[in-house]
Amino acid sequence: MGADYILELSGLSKSFGGNRVITALDLAINRVGVTSLVGPNGAGKTTLFDLVTGFLAPDAGRIRLCGRDITGMPSHRVAQAGVVRTFQNLRLFRSLTVLENALLAVESDAGARAPGARLELAQRALERAGVARLAGVRAADLSFAEQKFVSLSRAIAKPAGLMLLDEPAAGLDAPSLGRFHAIIRGLVDEGRTVLLIEHNLDIVRRISDSVAFLDNGRLLAHGSPEEIFAIEELATLYFGNDAVI
Ligand SMILES: Nc1ncnc2c1ncn2[C@@H]1O[C@H](COP(=O)(O)OP(=O)(O)O)[C@@H](O)[C@H]1O
Ligand SMILES: [Mg+2]
Repeated sequence: MGADYILELSGLSKSFGGNRVITALDLAINRVGVTSLVGPNGAGKTTLFDLVTGFLAPDAGRIRLCGRDITGMPSHRVAQAGVVRTFQNLRLFRSLTVLENALLAVESDAGARAPGARLELAQRALERAGVARLAGVRAADLSFAEQKFVSLSRAIAKPAGLMLLDEPAAGLDAPSLGRFHAIIRGLVDEGRTVLLIEHNLDIVRRISDSVAFLDNGRLLAHGSPEEIFAIEELATLYFGNDAVI
């Protein structure tokens, strides 16, 4: 079973004080493809990323990566094991250039590489994210959309097989969303697995191979986009009673 899934969560729970944020969550993610994690604000989506990446330790439950138990592993070792994430607030080095931001992502990677090879990896990541022309621009001087693509390039620069992207498309305009979609499908084509937190259900429907619906720390449903969007209660939970999706 383990070999079929890149990520398996079983009985995962996390509380902050008395506040249960993730409750007995079971979720298995297929190798290769895009799984979107949807659900209202405060559902626990980012906390789930924090647990998978070792930024937080669960109170109970197990996390398996390619069948290997990584529960409680510190974040740098989870990263070495092939998991990369982006953050909702991007965490770019604002006074550094776009290329320097990508280079730092490459350099914080465990594998020792020659400087030339690192530069090539960083430049290729910028190209993949469509920001190569901005290589010399300071991150602080970029538009909001370009900052999001640079954040994505930093994740692409790592050789990770599992990419956890926290609202990478939030706030993008229509042309940028098209770019975003093409980049993500390109990552899947090269064999990566993407776990995507996304609120735009139009994007979710078009980009996802599977959709996991989280509410109040519980997994309410996981299935194909068609299956998930057909569930009326989910629309109600997400949008209130007038919901049409
Ligand atoms: N470090 C923390 N300490 C205390 N409460 C937290 C912490 N991180 C998240 N929470 C709480 O956990 C809940 C889920 O948050 P989060 O995972 O950020 O939700 P989402 O990403 O789905 O919007 C929220 O109620 C939030 O206030
Ligand atoms: Mg969040």
